[in-house]
Amino acid sequence: MILALESSCDETAAAVLDPPRTLLSSEVASQVNKHRPFGGVVPELASRNHLLSLRPVIESALVRAGTSVTQMDAFAATSGPGLASSLLMGNTAAKALAATCAKPFISVNHMEGHLLSPFMDIPLKPHVALIVSGGHTLLIKVNEFGSYGKLGSSRDDAAGEAFDKVGKMLGLPYPGGPEVEQCAKEGAPDRFEFPRSMIESGDFHFSFSGLKTSVLYTLQKIGTPDPQTLADLCASFQAAVIEVLVTKAIAAVKHCGMETIALSGGVACNHFLRENLHEECTKNGIELCAVTPEHSTDNAAMIARAAAEKLARSQFTDLSEDIDPNLTLAH
Ligand code: KG4
Ligand code: ZN
Repeated sequence: MILALESSCDETAAAVLDPPRTLLSSEVASQVNKHRPFGGVVPELASRNHLLSLRPVIESALVRAGTSVTQMDAFAATSGPGLASSLLMGNTAAKALAATCAKPFISVNHMEGHLLSPFMDIPLKPHVALIVSGGHTLLIKVNEFGSYGKLGSSRDDAAGEAFDKVGKMLGLPYPGGPEVEQCAKEGAPDRFEFPRSMIESGDFHFSFSGLKTSVLYTLQKIGTPDPQTLADLCASFQAAVIEVLVTKAIAAVKHCGMETIALSGGVACNHFLRENLHEECTKNGIELCAVTPEHSTDNAAMIARAAAEKLARSQFTDLSEDIDPNLTLAH
């Protein structure tokens, strides 16, 4: 069994997994209420809250799994990318447990966790991964575990970051993603014509900062929006982001001659994205493996899933190895 910890940003999470894929527990302590008054994640606050939450989250994951720390075969933690002071917390805790129990430590790339999250209960297969989170927008060709080729990424803001910034601009609470989606439900996606940046660039890169600026200029022109205009702004913005994501993902899978797209990351919670991508995949005879909304946002189950692949290959991490806030997955 593996005990995995995730603390790269503002969620403190622990999960117990019986390899290869039997998830016994997955606990997440979200700090979102603590950061909301500041309109974003405050690293120092996140780090201190990880310290407070780690022990109860670990204990609760073990109790729920009906096991104890002495039954673990390995301890895993996210080693990057993320906030250094946050990463250190989970990483140090997992290393301390590994040292105390004389069991291996396994460090996991947070993005590899997201990449594997659509495959929580099925074997990994060759596919094109669309990972859309608060920090990254990535299209990756996945051949097998550990063999990844980057097809494209965002040149500026990540998709989730654009949702959060536009949400803030529109006066919605942090984080903006779920708020914008909620508000967009009542809106008309064709009321405002926002740019579909780089949709015809012929590559698999993205850019969302122009779209964000376009929303800002529109807002400056119309002044304080009435509730219907606010909903229309959210729906039009959301449609622009999603059209680019879906178009590029379909083009990428065709380019690679592959049959499967896997969708993951916090933005994968968005129903409009899920439905649109599902529709386009069906039209094009492509299989879609979408992460469940539960495992979309940061969690330790996906870290345990990746750690299980590493455990099977005896890919252990030396306790002297440090965290890497800028860790990348593929070049
Ligand atoms: O993967 P994640 O939990 O953290 C990172 O690794 O970044 O992703 C969080 C991001 C945030 O930007 C959040 O606003 C976005 O995912 N998000 C959404 C939705 N739910 C979360 N974006 C759009 N629609 C949603 N329903
Ligand atoms: Zn994440």
